[in-house]
Amino acid sequence: MKILSIDTSCDETAAAVTDGTKILCNIVWSQASLHAKFGGVMPSLAQRMHQERIDWVIKRAMTNAKCQMINLDAIAVTIGPGLSIALGVGINKAKELAEKYTKPLIPINHVEAHLLSPFANSKLQIANAKLPMLGLVVSGGNTLFVRINKIGDYEILAQTVDDALGEALDKSARMLGLGYPGGAILEKMARLGNPKKFTLPIPLVGQEKRQIFSYSGLKTSFYRLIESNKLRDKNFPSKQDVYDLSATFQNVAFKHLLRVIEYRVLSIKSPKITSFLLGGGVSANIEIRKRLRRLGRKFGFNLHIPYSNKLCGDNAAMIGVAAYLKIKYEKLNLDGFMDYNKIDRNPRLKLN
Ligand code: KG4
Repeated sequence: MKILSIDTSCDETAAAVTDGTKILCNIVWSQASLHAKFGGVMPSLAQRMHQERIDWVIKRAMTNAKCQMINLDAIAVTIGPGLSIALGVGINKAKELAEKYTKPLIPINHVEAHLLSPFANSKLQIANAKLPMLGLVVSGGNTLFVRINKIGDYEILAQTVDDALGEALDKSARMLGLGYPGGAILEKMARLGNPKKFTLPIPLVGQEKRQIFSYSGLKTSFYRLIESNKLRDKNFPSKQDVYDLSATFQNVAFKHLLRVIEYRVLSIKSPKITSFLLGGGVSANIEIRKRLRRLGRKFGFNLHIPYSNKLCGDNAAMIGVAAYLKIKYEKLNLDGFMDYNKIDRNPRLKLN
């Protein structure tokens, strides 16, 4: 099933062509460097850049995939969650193309696509995988731990009540003057640092059964830690201090994540879970993968991650793969996707 997919949910203008779970071409034009000077995403700038680039990414995706509009079985587009005015650009373009070439238009939830992204270009098949599976989406906008009963049937096991993990990593990186988005830079700095040099409280210790993640308290403690050290030493932070602070923040943020996940996994008595899917921008982090693999060895599940880092961050190939999996395993008929007026953006779209 050949699908042209489009995602303009945040600051990446993305288009891809997929065939089933196979990626034929995945074009991502990142605006991150343009937003960097604002320390975060500027919605109006994102919208303008999407408008400027959308035709270009679609044309490139189709050309590189050696695909023509006439050969497509469907078009898929992200309808949420995301920035409202940014989502609108992709949706309008998808509607325009679907109408022009009379193709079914499949609306896709961006978080569901991150969740299912490990299926892309992978031997992992839903048909021979044991369900339920566990899934974790850790990105700039979401921290969501779910039980996947089947495609389209997700039970939330834990989610953040304030900042998402990626957002917290970005903000802590900013406090250290490391630039935006800071998660990947913080990871590099953390590799050179000692995570025990400074002390930060692990959020919600002893409250794991509340099934929530929370990062805002940790962020405040980190700010206070930096400021109190600055008062004591006007040369603070040195280069080594930045490495140690990065290592400390990342370690405590991941410890909290893993504690809540382990608590939930322990409470699942049966059936036995054998697969754990990991997706979202933070899933590119080597340390988080290491810790989840360790947990997998303890509980007997395999960790499945996106096949490349390009699939961890925002991209459109995951939208095409999610659309295919939903059509196939929710047994949906493509003829039911011809009413384009029904499709609208939903910036706060929930997974379930
Ligand atoms: O999935 P994504 O591109 O956007 C959303 O849908 O939110 O995720 C972006 C997030 C940012 O917070 C970025 O700092 C983080 O993913 N990120 C990382 C790494 N690479 C990207 N965080 C930690 N380690 C990384 N290597």
